[in-house]
Amino acid sequence: MDLSITVNGITFPNPFLLGSGPPGTNARVIAKSYDAGWGGAVAKTVSLESAKVVNVVPRYGKLRSRTSGEVIGFENIELISDRPIDVWLQEFRQVKKDYPKHILIASIMEEYEKNRWQELTRMVQDTGVDAFELNFSCPHGMTERRMGSEMGEHPDLCEEVTSWVTEVSNIPVWAKMTPNITNIKEPSLAAVRGGAVGISAINTILSVIGVDLNTLRPMPTVEGHTVPGGYSSQAVRPIALRMVSQLALGLPQDVSISGIGGIENSHDALEFLLLGSSTVQLCTGVMLHGVKMIDELKQGLEKFMTDKGFNSVQEIVGKSLGYFSTHMDLVQKMKAAKRTKAGEASRDNEWAQKDITEKTAELTSN
Ligand SMILES: Cc1cc2nc3c(=O)[nH]c(=O)nc-3n(C[C@H](O)[C@H](O)[C@H](O)COP(=O)(O)O)c2cc1C
Repeated sequence: MDLSITVNGITFPNPFLLGSGPPGTNARVIAKSYDAGWGGAVAKTVSLESAKVVNVVPRYGKLRSRTSGEVIGFENIELISDRPIDVWLQEFRQVKKDYPKHILIASIMEEYEKNRWQELTRMVQDTGVDAFELNFSCPHGMTERRMGSEMGEHPDLCEEVTSWVTEVSNIPVWAKMTPNITNIKEPSLAAVRGGAVGISAINTILSVIGVDLNTLRPMPTVEGHTVPGGYSSQAVRPIALRMVSQLALGLPQDVSISGIGGIENSHDALEFLLLGSSTVQLCTGVMLHGVKMIDELKQGLEKFMTDKGFNSVQEIVGKSLGYFSTHMDLVQKMKAAKRTKAGEASRDNEWAQKDITEKTAELTSN
């Protein structure tokens, strides 16, 4: 079955991309993922001076289900790539030479200086990558140099920096946005005004994964201390879905969305497509389960398309957006369906008679 989708003029063999991070850490792992069947990859974010990027160990922390032990949340305090830009430029060239039909997106980040952004854009573009993703969203570490989400939190900076890049680039530019903001539409629209043709969302959510009750130290602990880090994995998916739907309903029609956050299987990916994403990216899921998960992603998408009668991936994109409404409208619809009483079932005596867990179950839809 044809799972391809054309986004901003680029044809992706399928909508599944490695998200920027450890899964796209160098050319070898990117090539391995293409061999496994991934449609494309966003490489780990690069900058001009890797010497300024120094990582710490440990830099990850997990939140597990209390019952099964499964990882449901993941915190990282990892920075962008600490590999020299010259090495990256050579590897971008090699990857495009070896895999011309696979899509390679370069994630870039720099300090707030026009020359630096434009120099990096020109250098990377010369290697033949298919598109740029501007990292306006790493929420920790890089922010101490006023980079990442320090830019993504300020719409005016998003617009200005995007326009620096689009002034010298001749390939599509996506902006990757931070969820650590009240209204993700504002900086996204600003990036679009600066010339971005796509929005990637979301990056990680600022978090503290836990506190060690023996040592009293918050985690992950580096020489006894920590910083708040970025939260990802299953637990962030509902927040990502909400932000993606807000973007899909609020951005101009021709702006594409790459959905990210807690995707681990075809079911999760389909939710993002239905809410307006043309492509989806997976990072933590791949770190925990490996690149082989692409098999289930593709099979699940194919099965869904067959079962529901979709002839192309494009037909799925945004299909569920029409079902968002306002609270007032939901009440009107219930009235019309003569079910108003159901909404009133939370009266005082009912709550007093039943166990609260029973009432919770009664009011839950799934
Ligand atoms: C260890 C780690 C490193 C990451 N590094 C980057 C990065 O260099 N650039 C970037 O744009 N996003 C980075 N991210 C964010 C992911 O690309 C993604 O937006 C986020 O983790 C949510 O998706 P997920 O739940 O599938 O991981 C990183 C995430 C993790 C867990």
